[in-house]
Amino acid sequence: MVYLPLFISLSWVIMGSTQNLELQTPPLDFKDTTEASRIVTESIIERVPVKYMESTVKSALTFLISQRENDWGWRNDTSKVLTALRLMQSYEDLEALLPNTLEIQLSSKQMEIEIVIKLWRHHEIPISPSRLAEYCLALSALCYDPRQFHGHDLIGTLQHQEAQHDLDFAYVTLAACTARAHIRKKQIRRLLDIANTAKDHNIDTVAMTILALRCIVMDHRHRNLQHSLRRPSISLAKQQQSDGGFGNIYNTALVIQALDDLTELKSYWNKSAAKTYLEFRQDPDGAYTDAGLTSDVLLALIDRGLGGIRLMECGRHDNDYENNVEIEGLTKSLSSHGNDSEIRNVTVTYTLWIGSNITENFTSSLTAPRNTSFYSIMQMAMELDPHFTFEASEWPNGHYVHTLAGFKEEPMGYNYWLLYRLPELPDPSAPPANQLVAPVGVDDLLIEEGDHYLFWYKKL
Ligand SMILES: *[C@@H]1O[C@H](CO)[C@@H](O)[C@H](O)[C@H]1NC(C)=O
Ligand SMILES: *[C@@H]1O[C@H](CO)[C@@H](O)[C@H](O)[C@H]1NC(C)=O
Ligand SMILES: *[C@@H]1O[C@H](CO)[C@@H](O)[C@H](O)[C@H]1NC(C)=O
Ligand SMILES: *[C@@H]1O[C@H](CO)[C@@H](O)[C@H](O)[C@H]1NC(C)=O
Ligand SMILES: *[C@@H]1O[C@H](CO)[C@@H](O)[C@H](O)[C@H]1NC(C)=O
Ligand SMILES: *[C@@H]1O[C@H](CO)[C@@H](O)[C@H](O)[C@H]1NC(C)=O
Ligand SMILES: *[C@@H]1O[C@H](CO)[C@@H](O)[C@H](O)[C@H]1NC(C)=O
Repeated sequence: MVYLPLFISLSWVIMGSTQNLELQTPPLDFKDTTEASRIVTESIIERVPVKYMESTVKSALTFLISQRENDWGWRNDTSKVLTALRLMQSYEDLEALLPNTLEIQLSSKQMEIEIVIKLWRHHEIPISPSRLAEYCLALSALCYDPRQFHGHDLIGTLQHQEAQHDLDFAYVTLAACTARAHIRKKQIRRLLDIANTAKDHNIDTVAMTILALRCIVMDHRHRNLQHSLRRPSISLAKQQQSDGGFGNIYNTALVIQALDDLTELKSYWNKSAAKTYLEFRQDPDGAYTDAGLTSDVLLALIDRGLGGIRLMECGRHDNDYENNVEIEGLTKSLSSHGNDSEIRNVTVTYTLWIGSNITENFTSSLTAPRNTSFYSIMQMAMELDPHFTFEASEWPNGHYVHTLAGFKEEPMGYNYWLLYRLPELPDPSAPPANQLVAPVGVDDLLIEEGDHYLFWYKKL
């Protein structure tokens, strides 16, 4: 069990209070998903020498390491620091200063614990979209798939609500794109709107929007948007001030990351001058105020901005991503393949299994319009057959089913209801594998012809 430290912390989280966990896939169920999606970070990147500002980079890095707490985290900056450290791993000159693999793993564990606690408490203290985006980017940089964070789809959560502020929105979209999740047309349109009115927006918002759009055009399906980057990029470059900066340290670091290697912009701004601006604003101890801002600046100085995370070598194949995208966006892509203007009825089956040894089973076959949610199917089934009576609690992101057929989840005994979506009627002699656990909650699961749903009450 590689995940022992987290396992322990998860156990206490769960024993403390499970009703707060809004994962329909319980968090302990991570053997299949997480092990598979996490790629050992050893095979990293070819190493290259640092090109610029070696002493500035080294003293900033030394400051970061000095700020590490006994729990291997950096208070509320753990995710930003980890992202920066991971991106710096491509520089051979920095190797001696960087934490070793084990240390990075300990810090990653600390971050995972932070995320789990935040998810667990999120109805008391909501996780801000930008904070969640920060975690997702760090997970991606560390070669974890944020869409399968111990069975929880963080990107789904992130995309569930549209961020109000343009800066947060751009940051969230960058995080989703970096994780190679599906970016909706509506999101792309909003980014383009911001980019096209760059003059009316703050520098950081425009820079983040350009980072998000540059990530999106890496997808071959959106190559055609490349041209729309030109004008906002030029407009941003032209805002460089005579001191080389873009108003403040954060903006300057972000603009350097956004414009980075866009060679056609060379005549509109002076990148070295922007870096010199940063160099002169470093504190004597190597810091830029705190660990978070220091990490932002480091990304700019090493020429590996947030935009580079998607390109990191994690030993995955593009196919893996495509498959994940398919699963994640299954309901959406299936319905978009069909003819949406045509309402037709489909038939699905809905089965309950009780006990790890399947001591009881009930199956019902139901017909409903194609895009009905599985939650509605459950309500229909309940009306038709009392065996399918259920109780659910309501969370901001939907219903959490905790009781079915009179069996209530028992966190203490590790008995949970797991929901599967299957291509065939479930067969007790060949129970489904954990990969077939439904990727989304009961409200977001829209039925398609030939779906077979199974709720299985089992011990984890
Ligand atoms: C991080 O913590 C510091 C001090 O503990 C606080 O000033 C800052 O606002 C926090 N930042 C965030 C994003 O929570
Ligand atoms: C860019 O800035 C650097 C450092 O401030 C300066 O040495 C250089 O001459 C500038 N380049 C141009 C083309 O202005
Ligand atoms: C969808 O169905 C409608 C009505 O049945 C039809 O007019 C339309 O051409 C169909 N669209 C596609 C893309 O098949
Ligand atoms: C779909 O099913 C409902 C009842 O389940 C029925 O009233 C309706 O006519 C059906 N629609 C089609 C197109 O078959
Ligand atoms: C389930 O089956 C296993 C072996 O097939 C047996 O050891 C175990 O006691 C059974 N559990 C229950 C609750 O019946
Ligand atoms: C369901 O359980 C009954 C016994 O109660 C058994 O005969 C039947 O084969 C089971 N069917 C399925 C599909 O699990
Ligand atoms: C299902 O599709 C119809 C027509 O496309 C639409 O009016 C309806 O709102 C959809 N229902 C859901 C639950 O998406």
